[in-house]
Amino acid sequence: MTHADLVAEVDGVIVGRSSIRYELNDFLRAQGGHIGYAVRPHHRRRGHATQILRQSLEVLRARDVTPVLVTCDDTNVGSARVIETVGGILENVVPGEPGMPSKRRYWFT
Ligand SMILES: CC(C)(COP(=O)(O)OP(=O)(O)OC[C@H]1O[C@@H](n2cnc3c(N)ncnc32)[C@H](O)[C@@H]1OP(=O)(O)O)[C@@H](O)C(=O)NCCC(=O)NCCS
Repeated sequence: MTHADLVAEVDGVIVGRSSIRYELNDFLRAQGGHIGYAVRPHHRRRGHATQILRQSLEVLRARDVTPVLVTCDDTNVGSARVIETVGGILENVVPGEPGMPSKRRYWFT
């Protein structure tokens, strides 16, 4: 298995999702990282993304995937805040794909 798509559920309601990649290819190492997540608009600003990222890191650690790369658009203040709250260490900010914002690349060790 190279990846898993998980849903985040609170009291029977799906509030968000996580895409977990167990291996990095060139694109993921440069831009995408091991984990992608999103919270449904009506459920934002309640800590769900923070919890989704924490639990996604546990899923990867359980498979001995370390260190873990998580990225976000340089313009995505909310996602950067989530990653920094959970303890990601910023390595660098790299140019995005053509027409896309730069990417902030964080590591969890
Ligand atoms: C970015 C996103 C995942 C945040 O989800 P969330 O559940 O609202 O995040 P949380 O509630 O866990 O917020 C964690 C912190 O970030 C802050 N935050 C969240 N969204 C924010 C925003 N748009 N602007 C500023 N701060 C924000 C919260 O206030 C909170 O701060 P605190 O720790 O001081 O309390 C959500 O807005 C989303 O799904 N966006 C679209 C998809 C996306 O960008 N995914 C990430 C791709 S890398």
